[in-house]
Amino acid sequence: MNPGWFQFAGQQELPSPCLVVHRDQIAQNLARMLATAGSAARLRPHIKTHKLAQIVALQSSMGISKCKCATLAEAEMAAGAGANDILLALQPVGPNQERLVGIVARFPKVRFSTVVDDPAVADALGQRFHARGRHIEALLDIDLGQNRTGILPGPAALDLYRRLARTPGIRPGGIHAYDGHLHQSDPAERSKAARDALAPVLEMDTSLREEGLPVPRLVLGGTPTFPIHAQLTLPSVELSPGTCVLWDAGYAARYPDLEYLHAAQIITRVVSRPSQGRICLDLGHKAVASEMAQPRVTFPALPDAKIVLHSEEHMVVETAEAGRLPPGTLLHAIPWHVCPTVALHERVHVVQNGQTGRTWPVTARARSLQP
Ligand SMILES: Cc1ncc(COP(=O)(O)O)c(C=O)c1O
Repeated sequence: MNPGWFQFAGQQELPSPCLVVHRDQIAQNLARMLATAGSAARLRPHIKTHKLAQIVALQSSMGISKCKCATLAEAEMAAGAGANDILLALQPVGPNQERLVGIVARFPKVRFSTVVDDPAVADALGQRFHARGRHIEALLDIDLGQNRTGILPGPAALDLYRRLARTPGIRPGGIHAYDGHLHQSDPAERSKAARDALAPVLEMDTSLREEGLPVPRLVLGGTPTFPIHAQLTLPSVELSPGTCVLWDAGYAARYPDLEYLHAAQIITRVVSRPSQGRICLDLGHKAVASEMAQPRVTFPALPDAKIVLHSEEHMVVETAEAGRLPPGTLLHAIPWHVCPTVALHERVHVVQNGQTGRTWPVTARARSLQP
């Protein structure tokens, strides 16, 4: 990556803290994703990373019309921004089922699908769609070992898929299998773990097809296992990485084999120098995701920075460079975890051709786009 990539014309005019996205790097990351997937039809990027209509539109302009989302607001935003095949990867329950019916009705040209892992949820969802003379494709959510959602592969999972096939209002949409628990830095170890975890899913796929049931797609993985699942040649395979669109410091540190470009940074400023060797920045929990341990950001121009205190609006950093960083000094910070960082910002400032001037609203940070 160009070592000075984070500098751009107009940066001194930006308020701090603010989130900046680099459109050219985003386009390059998307092009790289297309190359890894082999075709746009095999790529279903997870848009929870950015929640931005403009990136969905950019994806569409590059032929990527499918996406995955985690919330109904993201689904609605993506449908409005031009995606034409949207998978909701969080089983809809309670009033969210009716909200989903409403969104599907509002965008009749968009192909919507959802994941399910529970027979009662599937039945209730089917009833709601059937009552409106509609249906929704439901993908069986398989637990690959993360133990977050899903059903373990095996006889009960096969039974649930058969049930989906006979539930009015539901069409069996294939299998969803996410392996977000696989964090091996070593690509060979990660490959082995991903292949081992996926093997029973491929067996399920074969046996369901042998029974004559449609399994239109296998939606697999996130960024760390993206190049691994991309080697599968089954025509139904779709790959659903998200973080690589913006690429953050956490993934860059953990997965050096994945060569994406950083495309998001936070502009922050020194607000105080409380003591020798220390600076305080306007980069608190409310501006950068803080669900993880430190470091929650890295500073490309300050490699020795050590974050020693972090509160709502303040970040205190120890650095040997403090003496040359008076209040007002601008610093560039790369979020460790970009997805929840984006959700903290109302808008992003956009850099294109090395300069800024525009903003994009982070539309889908809302829980609902309806008033
Ligand atoms: C279900 C699901 N699919 C795909 C992804 C994308 O993974 P990554 O952030 O590694 O790209 C996530 C991330 O949380 C996810 O929860």
